[in-house]
Amino acid sequence: MSKSDQTSKPKPVILTCAQPTGQLTLGNYLGAVRNWSDMLDDYECFFGIVDLHAITVPPKPSDLRQNVYSCIAQYIACGLDPKKCHQFVQSHVIGHTELAWILTCMTPIGELQRMTQFKDKAAKLGFKVAEEKGSDDVKFTHEGVRAQASINAGLLCYPVLMAADILLYNAELVPVGEDQRQHLELCRDLAGRFNQKYSETFKIPEPYVPKTGARIMSLSDPMHKMSKSDKNEKATIFVLDKPEQIKKKIGSAVTDSEAEIKANSTKPGVSNLLTIHSSLSGESINDLESHFLGKGYGELKAEVIELLTENLRPVRESYHELIKDKNYLDSVLKEGAQAAQKRAYKILSKVSRKIGLTERARN
Ligand code: TYM
Repeated sequence: MSKSDQTSKPKPVILTCAQPTGQLTLGNYLGAVRNWSDMLDDYECFFGIVDLHAITVPPKPSDLRQNVYSCIAQYIACGLDPKKCHQFVQSHVIGHTELAWILTCMTPIGELQRMTQFKDKAAKLGFKVAEEKGSDDVKFTHEGVRAQASINAGLLCYPVLMAADILLYNAELVPVGEDQRQHLELCRDLAGRFNQKYSETFKIPEPYVPKTGARIMSLSDPMHKMSKSDKNEKATIFVLDKPEQIKKKIGSAVTDSEAEIKANSTKPGVSNLLTIHSSLSGESINDLESHFLGKGYGELKAEVIELLTENLRPVRESYHELIKDKNYLDSVLKEGAQAAQKRAYKILSKVSRKIGLTERARN
């Protein structure tokens, strides 16, 4: 369906985003981007590259610039056809930070301090976060891992910026992996709070979390989610990995000392491999358990390697073509920013009016 058809019949709006922090992981692919491409015909889709979120842990400026191009090329290579959706860079659209500030002024600090991802990130910087029972206060104790470590306010306010990303478009549905559920809850609370205080303004967005693949785990420590920042090279598959890399990483994926191919909480490594298989092959976990009855872990890994190699090959090949054409990528981002800005301005001016900001004189 062409974009003109999309505009003539209003469709429900979805918005979702990823951080430009290098290559997308298999978790980003199976838990997020691949599912977004199935929604292009039924929704008006806004896909953001959230560069302002990426500076909460400041990257090298040249890396950040390069990562934005790499991210848009990976989005398209993963199936996000620019003719059917709007892909934009967060900092290119006026309104994300403005709305974030307005929402920040409605958010108790304690709510942000209790966010799981904030606590995890704080812990990585050497801070221990201890909640006090019956109190809204959260205590931080520095464990001295890094003498100069401190937590920037951006890391704390990150979920409010994320809420603004969503509410700025009045998105009805937000497709995300399991790890973003808590942030979505905060977004819904803030939308409800604003509506109650200033009258109906925001739609309350629904999370859309896929049934399979919503939480892909690390290959070396399957109790933790697969993440871009894992220091262990074998823990994470990236969508641009070559077949040799896929083979090596899956070959050394942690399993257990039993020999039974079943998915359950006592077998996190095997369960993770079954989930990856199921997400790519479309077969249910139950069917896979029957298929692998009496077979060994080597056979499971061999099938996962084949599935990954075949599924990621076209993504990798297409990426390497796209990344050479910076003009084309710029044109996609320009169209995306224009469409996003048009929608964002409408909501931002409505919000500004409701909270009592004066309108700027036009001449
Ligand atoms: P980010 O960049 O960490 O991840 C992008 C998307 O990938 C999903 N994901 C996973 N899914 C399954 N298994 C995994 N191991 C895995 N790792 C990541 C994430 O759930 C996400 O859907 N805060 C967000 C970015 C953001 C956003 C937004 C998302 C900013 N504003 C507005 C939605 C709406 C983040 O850091 O995602």
